Amino acid sequence: MLSKRPHTLAYAFLLSPVIGVVTSYAQHLEMKHDMLLGLLFERGTYQKLYSYRHLINGFSVHLSPEQAETLRRAPGVKSVERDWKVRKLTTHTPQFLGLPTGVWPTGGGFDRAGEDIVIGFVDSGIYPHHPSFATHNTEPYGPVPKYRGKCEINPDTKKSFCNGKIIGAQHFAKAATAAGSFNPLIEFPSPLDGDGHGSHTAAIAAGNNGIPVRMYGHEFGKASGMAPRARIAVYKALYRLFGGFVADVVAAIDQAVYDGVDILSLSVGPNSPPATTKTTFLNPFDATLLAAVKAGVFVAQAAGNGGPFQKTLVSYSPWIVSVAAAVDDRRYKNHLILGNGKILAGLGLSPSTRLNQTYTLVAANDVMLDSSISKYSPSDCQRPELLKKNLVEGNILLCGYSFNFVVGSASIKKVSETAKALGAAGFVLCVENVSPGTKFDPVPVGIPGILITEVSKSTDLIDYYNVSTPRDWTGRVKNFNAKGSIGDGLMPILHKSAPQVAIFSARGPNIKDFSYQDADLLKPDILAPGSLIWAAWSPNGTDEPNYVGEGFALISGTSMAAPHIAGIAALIKQKHPAWSPAAIKSALMTTSTTIDRAGRPIQAQQYSETEAMKFVAATPFDYGSGHINPRAALDPGLIFDAAEMLNTVRRTKGRSFEDYLGFLCTTPGIDAHEIKNYTTSPCNYTIGHPWNLNTPSITVSHLVGTKIISRTVTNVAEEETYVIKTRMAPAIAIEANPPAMTLRPGSSKKFTVTLTVRSVTGTYSFGEVLMQGSRGHKVRIPVVAMGYER
Ligand SMILES: *[C@@H]1O[C@H](CO)[C@@H](O)[C@H](O)[C@H]1NC(C)=O
Ligand SMILES: *[C@@H]1O[C@H](CO)[C@@H](O)[C@H](O)[C@H]1NC(C)=O
Ligand SMILES: *[C@@H]1O[C@H](CO)[C@@H](O)[C@H](O)[C@H]1NC(C)=O
Ligand SMILES: *[C@@H]1O[C@H](CO)[C@@H](O)[C@H](O)[C@H]1NC(C)=O
Ligand SMILES: *[C@@H]1O[C@H](CO)[C@@H](O)[C@H](O)[C@H]1NC(C)=O
Repeated sequence: MLSKRPHTLAYAFLLSPVIGVVTSYAQHLEMKHDMLLGLLFERGTYQKLYSYRHLINGFSVHLSPEQAETLRRAPGVKSVERDWKVRKLTTHTPQFLGLPTGVWPTGGGFDRAGEDIVIGFVDSGIYPHHPSFATHNTEPYGPVPKYRGKCEINPDTKKSFCNGKIIGAQHFAKAATAAGSFNPLIEFPSPLDGDGHGSHTAAIAAGNNGIPVRMYGHEFGKASGMAPRARIAVYKALYRLFGGFVADVVAAIDQAVYDGVDILSLSVGPNSPPATTKTTFLNPFDATLLAAVKAGVFVAQAAGNGGPFQKTLVSYSPWIVSVAAAVDDRRYKNHLILGNGKILAGLGLSPSTRLNQTYTLVAANDVMLDSSISKYSPSDCQRPELLKKNLVEGNILLCGYSFNFVVGSASIKKVSETAKALGAAGFVLCVENVSPGTKFDPVPVGIPGILITEVSKSTDLIDYYNVSTPRDWTGRVKNFNAKGSIGDGLMPILHKSAPQVAIFSARGPNIKDFSYQDADLLKPDILAPGSLIWAAWSPNGTDEPNYVGEGFALISGTSMAAPHIAGIAALIKQKHPAWSPAAIKSALMTTSTTIDRAGRPIQAQQYSETEAMKFVAATPFDYGSGHINPRAALDPGLIFDAAEMLNTVRRTKGRSFEDYLGFLCTTPGIDAHEIKNYTTSPCNYTIGHPWNLNTPSITVSHLVGTKIISRTVTNVAEEETYVIKTRMAPAIAIEANPPAMTLRPGSSKKFTVTLTVRSVTGTYSFGEVLMQGSRGHKVRIPVVAMGYER
């Protein structure tokens, strides 16, 4: 193996991507890459990792910084980028979204939902033996002739990773290996999921229907993917310890599109905005995705987990659907009843202690073995051998939730194992000092257990314990007299104030370059469930200490939101096979909702200095167009997709690509040469201003005086007359023209939205354009603008 020199992604003589390219041409490209490297460098001084031959013409190579400079100056080389890292952006949801009653029946029921649609997952692999991915008990899957992905053999079982449900399984680790990051013992040199994340995301989008979620003998409901009949194509490029490298991720995407996936689900994003290119929209990762979309592949990407702070998105480009995470209606709560009658609320996905019975509380610090003091902290209850079994047995063990649980290897799972090993009746974890805004997730455990997350309640508990526990002059406990019992936390409580934007979900405005300048493009695009999602887990996964060895996990992240959208996109693709990625994106966005279950505007979770969390009215910078509404998305009425929809698929695809080019070519600060270098297309097409890109949202980041923005809609339903209404915060005047229009089936019509600054407030104003159809369709797009002095 080469030393840990930086490896470099090099993009050479790019040309327009050709999908379904004849193999001999791909081989020709690869030969050219090898020839170029052979001419420039001595053999053995570099290591080529991948030739990208399908979506982009380029390669990645492991070489020295001096060699990278030489390569940069070589004839025909358009761009050389240093590789950078990406990270993963870490059931009940189908019911919450109304899929079983509202959507699946229209596709032929859950046993047909997603039929013949292939979703590609660029993630941490898959655990192929999970019931969520099984083929038995389901109608046999036929072949999918359009898909030609390979299936690697599991070195463990000597069997293929594929089974009909999983139809492709490959892994990409050359860059990780060259960088010296890949440990085959932990990461597995196969598509096997050594993390858990990849199995989880695949199950959310396409896992089988009605799989009982069982842990510790309890059933937490049934899990199902959004499109339970869709096929899964696995492209492992993320790893447990270090995330992934763009060189591997690009190789995975290049292969997935060549193999014939319909949809890509990406729960991965860059560690930071690309620093080496001048724009967030054109870097090897986003440029590859542009080529994927040009080829007709729908791409859903996690928006990022840097919220609730502004400009934390890691998904930037208009051709991608960037997904924010919502908290859905299910919350788990539990309580601890103390001997003094106080009831303390906490988190505990656990059974209760025996009804009408109270138990003695013993603090770990008071029952530790003398020998154990120095080496480990016994109070976090990670090791049963440090505590006296005879004092713990039959009692409730009181432990401290330390910083080690947040950043170290301490886990609630181990606390529960310690308590169980010592014969305890249950355990209480008590948070003593945490920074405000720390997020606690409930963790399922096999014995009664609760985490007290509020500092004031912890203080109540500790005070009660202290006054009830007499000590001798050395501090040794004379009698344990504190009592308590733990409630039943297994049943979720369904909230009406759902959905809400999750506190961690990344927020806009979107940025267009590394200096964090605002883009004239709204991100995120849409909101989908991403908080406390139950789905499949890999027992080989070691990433989440609370789920080591388990078959299911309850985890949160925009990582969990993106596959919800990928799965629902599969349902739309199944119903409308000819729709372009932009058309599917439009259907998802214009039908989404900004109203919660209780009929009030959706709220966003925000940090609060005084309380655990506060709630503010959500804006498009939190949720894009709003929360996904799958039933409406299948029948959107109108589509924002510049091309005429009912024309051939090819034409639709080509037109969207030209529009994206027009967007790039009119966005200030992007060099036309850079665009040509990445896309091979000249800037011979302009859309006037970037905000004229025909997206189902309007964003003018720098509004001076009056601006007229145009949009074109295409009718994908029967003839219908739409009345166009507008709404905007008072600082900006808004007007739509014409006020109404009638569209025949398949026809397209243009309308304009005029924005005028009324007062300069120094903040963004929000509004919307609502097109109400005479046949009941509602087509809504968000409007976002900031006014400036002339
Ligand atoms: C584009 O590629 C050319 C070589 O063909 C190179 O000289 C130029 O610097 C590149 N421009 C940008 C903006 O990357
Ligand atoms: C617990 O106590 C309540 C009221 O005191 C009583 O109704 C109930 O039957 C008791 N349950 C058990 C299991 O003893
Ligand atoms: C509990 O009491 C002991 C002494 O009795 C004292 O050292 C300790 O600080 C008290 N703990 C709290 C949290 O009040
Ligand atoms: C993965 O987990 C399964 C189930 O626990 C186990 O049988 C298998 O040996 C593990 N594979 C590897 C490579 O560790
Ligand atoms: C722009 O140039 C490309 C390649 O030269 C050509 O295929 C395309 O038709 C041109 N587009 C316009 C709008 O002129």
